[in-house]
Amino acid sequence: MGTAWKRTHYCGMISTNEEGQEVTLMGWVQRRRDHGGLIFVDLRDREGIVQVVFNPQHSQEAFAVAGEVRGEYVLAVRGVVSRRPPGTENPRIKTGQVEVLATEAEILNPSLNPPFPIDDVEVDEAVRLRYRYLDLRRTRMYRNLVLRHRLAKATRDFLDRKGFIEVETPFLIKTTPEGARDFLVPSRLHPGKFYVLPQSPQLFKQILMVAGFDRYFQIVRCFRDEDLRADRQPEFTQIDMEMSFVDQEDVLQLVEELMAYLMERVMGVSVKTPFPRLTYAQAMARYGSDKPDLRFGMEIADITEAFQHPQARVISEAMAAGGVVRAIHARQAAHLTRREVEELASVVQSAGGKGLIPLYITSDGARSPLGRAITAEEVERIRERLGAQDGDLILIVADEPEKASELLGQVRLELARRLGMIPRDTYAFAWVVEFPMFEWSEEEKKLVAKHHPFTSPMDEDLPYLESDPLRVRAKAYDLILNGVELGGGSIRIHRAELQARVFKALGISEEQAQRKFGFLLEAFQYGAPPHGGIALGFDRLVMLLCGEETIRDVIAFPKTQSGMDLMIGAPSEVEERQLREVHIRVDQRAG
Ligand code: AMO
Repeated sequence: MGTAWKRTHYCGMISTNEEGQEVTLMGWVQRRRDHGGLIFVDLRDREGIVQVVFNPQHSQEAFAVAGEVRGEYVLAVRGVVSRRPPGTENPRIKTGQVEVLATEAEILNPSLNPPFPIDDVEVDEAVRLRYRYLDLRRTRMYRNLVLRHRLAKATRDFLDRKGFIEVETPFLIKTTPEGARDFLVPSRLHPGKFYVLPQSPQLFKQILMVAGFDRYFQIVRCFRDEDLRADRQPEFTQIDMEMSFVDQEDVLQLVEELMAYLMERVMGVSVKTPFPRLTYAQAMARYGSDKPDLRFGMEIADITEAFQHPQARVISEAMAAGGVVRAIHARQAAHLTRREVEELASVVQSAGGKGLIPLYITSDGARSPLGRAITAEEVERIRERLGAQDGDLILIVADEPEKASELLGQVRLELARRLGMIPRDTYAFAWVVEFPMFEWSEEEKKLVAKHHPFTSPMDEDLPYLESDPLRVRAKAYDLILNGVELGGGSIRIHRAELQARVFKALGISEEQAQRKFGFLLEAFQYGAPPHGGIALGFDRLVMLLCGEETIRDVIAFPKTQSGMDLMIGAPSEVEERQLREVHIRVDQRAG
């Protein structure tokens, strides 16, 4: 590039303010149109597109250069900003009032023909990820990553102002309590030994509280070798926080303030605090989910009482087995076709339910596939209980209480989607609190911690820790946004006796506890302050605020569902020598 070339403006920032000025632009060729005597080039950079006009009467040389360029060539252009002739303005782009009349041009680099156009057309995701650098040239992706940057920046500003210190914690560590599978890193210097990558900085942030830091945060990468979904990646980012001398209320308030600040600052949206709070039991009963989507109502209702001597077999059998009858009441949804209702029923079936009974409320009674087995009296009681009107649709499940709600929770989401009940650009934050301390793991045939083993039980449930552990609730809380689990945290145990009781309930022996978490337990003997914290899934937050369906669209270089980076080709084989150095032999049969 000749030294005379120095960029003066971004292409996408040219406006009528620059009219008459000479500008120097550099960017990529979006499109070239040859109109015989004139060549139009749409030149693009991260800020947008501007139209450049090459007229041989202005410059024969520049015109010749324009004749050679193709899509995605990198081009430098000098020219004068001019208002477009009346009638040729383009209201769809920011620079649509103007064009640049080129006097000089130079190709800085040619380009292969890209495998997909750099605009908002649908492209297969595998192709996008393979050529991520081209995908990231697209406006939508660029905007997502800029929003991500703004959120990270605003988070740091806010937490700094609140007295939080950002401390980096190590990636090569020993163990984490989050319960997913660890990524292992073999040690060269210590044959047969491994580091693991942190699933979160949990133990280090607690150690920092023992160290007296009082308020810690970190925007930090975490690693979990788990099966991937739309909102899960093997490496993801948390806004991780911990505070000393606080109770649950302090943590919730601070996070509400942080969220309100981010929404206001970055999105220009004001959200109401405090956020609604539901206990885990309420969330499960009313929404069939521990991450309820509160952008719409249609709560699950219990209608068991409407059935005193049920004749319908599905109902009487479920009730005889100690089950319940629950329902979703969809107002004015009786127009759903049989086929649509069958699709909802298949949601129930594929989630392990027996079936879904639709009840169409009409002016002359009710209609359902069970016919007269649901009596007029029962219909009347259901109508009354739900306040149902003609034209409404009631969807019924008879099963064990938790199962019935869980199944209807899925129906609720699917139905709302179909009925278009989910408003756009609405941000429904909520807290779910009072989680159970333990859950039964079928796989391990023992109790496991629902959050992690350092979570404090609720004071009033302490008496049941040994006698009835499944009844014990924890000082644990999840932040929910639009039906997505945005974050989770807890008040921690800071006294040795209580920690020992919890380990015991979890079937973790003293010896095991020492081996895995000895350093933390030791630190706790040197004056651990009461403390608690939370971690927010940063990718998920960005995803929701960008209106994307997957966190892959807000991560610059994500992995596919099968954990691959298609651009760099990872994971991959390594040299035999490298394996020897870390004392590893690969069992080829495993492949
Ligand atoms: P937890 O395991 O609940 O808590 O994680 C906190 C939040 O991190 C996000 N998250 C993920 N995001 C993308 N991909 C993943 N694989 C993934 N896994 C989790 C979720 C989740 O709510 N140390 C505790 C926090 C604490 O107790 O302070 C922890 O990590 O949004």
